[in-house]
Amino acid sequence: MGALDGKIAVITGGGTGIGLAIAERFANEGAEVVIAGRRQQRLEDAAAQLGHGVRGVVTDVGDDAQVKRLIDSVPRVDLLVTCAGGAVFGAVETVPSKAWRDLFSDRFFGQLSACHYAVPKMAAGSAIILCSGIAGHAALVNYSGGAGLCGAVNAMGRSLSVELAPKGIRVNVLSPGLTRDTAIDWGVPPEQLGAFMDSLVSNIPLKRPGTVRDMADAAYFLATCSYATGQVIDIDGGWTAV
Ligand SMILES: NC(=O)c1ccc[n+]([C@@H]2O[C@H](COP(=O)([O-])OP(=O)(O)OC[C@H]3O[C@@H](n4cnc5c(N)ncnc54)[C@H](OP(=O)(O)O)[C@@H]3O)[C@@H](O)[C@H]2O)c1
Repeated sequence: MGALDGKIAVITGGGTGIGLAIAERFANEGAEVVIAGRRQQRLEDAAAQLGHGVRGVVTDVGDDAQVKRLIDSVPRVDLLVTCAGGAVFGAVETVPSKAWRDLFSDRFFGQLSACHYAVPKMAAGSAIILCSGIAGHAALVNYSGGAGLCGAVNAMGRSLSVELAPKGIRVNVLSPGLTRDTAIDWGVPPEQLGAFMDSLVSNIPLKRPGTVRDMADAAYFLATCSYATGQVIDIDGGWTAV
C-alpha cells in the first residue's frame, strides 16, 4: 500500500529534474502520474524509466489551450504540481525584455492556468504544489526577472490557499534553492559552470547544492500533510536563513 494509492497526479515539467524526481516519488507511492513538457521523446523516456503506468502529455504551459488539453486528459486531479519552466539570467540592461515576458508566460501564467483548469476537477482533500525559487526571498545578482517571478508565484500561492480552503483544497509553494541534476540553463559557459556553482554554494550553510530527491521529499510532505496550506517552503540548505 502506498500513501498515494488511487490519487491522480498531474506534474508539469515532469520529464526532467525536480519534476521528474517528484513524479518518481509519487508513482512509487501509488499515484497515477501524468507528466507534461514540450518534448515528446523526453516524456516517453521518462515514462519508460519510471514505469508504474506513468504517461506523458506533450504540453507547452505557455499556451493556455494546451494546458486545458492536459487537464482534460484526466478524469480528476488529486495532486497538481507545476514545475514547468526555465530561468533567465543576465544583467538587467542586456536581457531582451521578451525573455522576461516569456518567463512569466510559462512560469506564472502557466501555473495560474493549470490551477484555473484543474480546480473544477479537484475534490476536498486534493492539493496544489506550485514552484517558485528562493530568489523570491533572497537577492541574486543578474536574476531580477526571475526574482520577480518567484515573488509573484509565492503571492499567488498564499492567495489561492485562502481562496480554495473552503473547498478543502490545499495550496503550497515549493521554493527550491540551488538544485543539481537538473537541465536548467544557468546562462554561463560550460567551462565556467564549476566556478559559478562554487560561488553559489559559498552562500549555503549546509555547503552543498540540493538534490532533486531533496525537492521530491518536500513535495511529498506537501502532498500528504493535511494541515499544511498557504506555505512557501524554501528547501535551500539554509540559504535564506542567513
Ligand atoms: N534547479 C534549480 O536550482 C532551481 C532553483 C529554483 C527554482 N527552480 C525551478 O524549478 C522548476 C524545475 O526546474 P529544474 O531545476 O528541475 O529544471 P529542468 O530540469 O530544466 O526542468 C524544467 C522542466 O520544465 C519543462 N518546461 C520548460 N518550459 C516549458 C514549457 N513552456 N511548457 C512545458 N514544459 C516546460 C522542461 O521540459 P521541456 O523542455 O521538454 O518542455 C523541463 O522538463 C523550474 O521552474 C525552475 O525554474 C530550479
